[in-house]
Amino acid sequence: MTMQDPTETETELLAAVNGADTLDALEQVRIGALGRKGRITDLMKSLGGMSPDERRAAGPALNGLKDRISSAIDARREAMETSGLEARLRQEGIDVTLPVRPETNGSVHPVSQVTEELVAIFADMGFELAEGPDVEDDFHNFTALNMPPEHPARQMHDTFYLTPDESGAQRLLRTHTSTVQIRTMMSRPPPHRIIVPGRTYRSDSDMTHTPMFHQVEGLVIDRATHMGHLKGCLIEFARAFFDIDDLPYRFRPSYFPFTEPSAEMDIGCSRADGELRIGAGDDWLEILGCGMVNPRVLENCGVDSSVYQGFAFGVGIDRIAMLKYGIPDLRSFFESDLRWLRHYGFSALDVPTLAGGLAR
Ligand code: DAH
Repeated sequence: MTMQDPTETETELLAAVNGADTLDALEQVRIGALGRKGRITDLMKSLGGMSPDERRAAGPALNGLKDRISSAIDARREAMETSGLEARLRQEGIDVTLPVRPETNGSVHPVSQVTEELVAIFADMGFELAEGPDVEDDFHNFTALNMPPEHPARQMHDTFYLTPDESGAQRLLRTHTSTVQIRTMMSRPPPHRIIVPGRTYRSDSDMTHTPMFHQVEGLVIDRATHMGHLKGCLIEFARAFFDIDDLPYRFRPSYFPFTEPSAEMDIGCSRADGELRIGAGDDWLEILGCGMVNPRVLENCGVDSSVYQGFAFGVGIDRIAMLKYGIPDLRSFFESDLRWLRHYGFSALDVPTLAGGLAR
């Protein structure tokens, strides 16, 4: 094998190294020079066929060549990697001086907002959250609440009934959250202090009625719970909810089959020039129904009414949301119109938590 002039080889290889413009191309040059069949490797192999004198002269020269080409390849690789990184940094860098893009935030529906407000107020008073099913049976929705089958109050509920099953039993969509009073009292012994927000259903639709709406039910049962507790609790609630310390109120006698005596609570308002203002004026606005739990209801649930007594109340969540936030039409609550939601919705940061809410 005739040995190529090492100087010429070096010139060619250095040109190839500097001409490689990708890491792959550079790797090909390295293999071509220093790989198992590379040009420098071949030269090194040829040392074996030389006389000792020739080898002594050629050896150091070839080693020098090998080192210089290796270093040139390494230097070229490092330069390419650095410039690649710089290019990436330039391309992927963030310009912190750019103005932010407008974000479209979701908002909290007034019903969710007001539910959270109610729960937070009653939780502060030591109430516990309870829930029950939307699809109910006649017993929990009516009979146990002292509305036996022929009771006239049933007619007022415009009930949605489901198709009867094989046994003839007909389930229904609960017409009020009072069902959960029954479920709670039948599932564990007193004392009870629960608050029950949830969906309710009646076949009705106009400005202030929708087939689905929301109520919150309250129930307090203990040995010595009396009407004074009922009034104190509900006055406290109304003042906290409407955020008016001296909110005028009155309790009017009323009738519910499940309470005795029964009352409705009104708060003071004015309606000057068609504009409703809460907390001032000489007019009244009904906000809830309440009463001392009828001993018959206690007995229906297996609670000894000679030992235990207590009060209950029911509030329309949508209704008090309309009052507090000045929303005129109940039907708009359930139309999912995004313009309406943007207008009447709340920021997630305004929703109160049990710790009092971030925005307070
Ligand atoms: N369940 C009643 C309704 O749907 C509201 C109600 C009134 C609940 C008085 C009560 C109560 O617990 O004591 O209209």
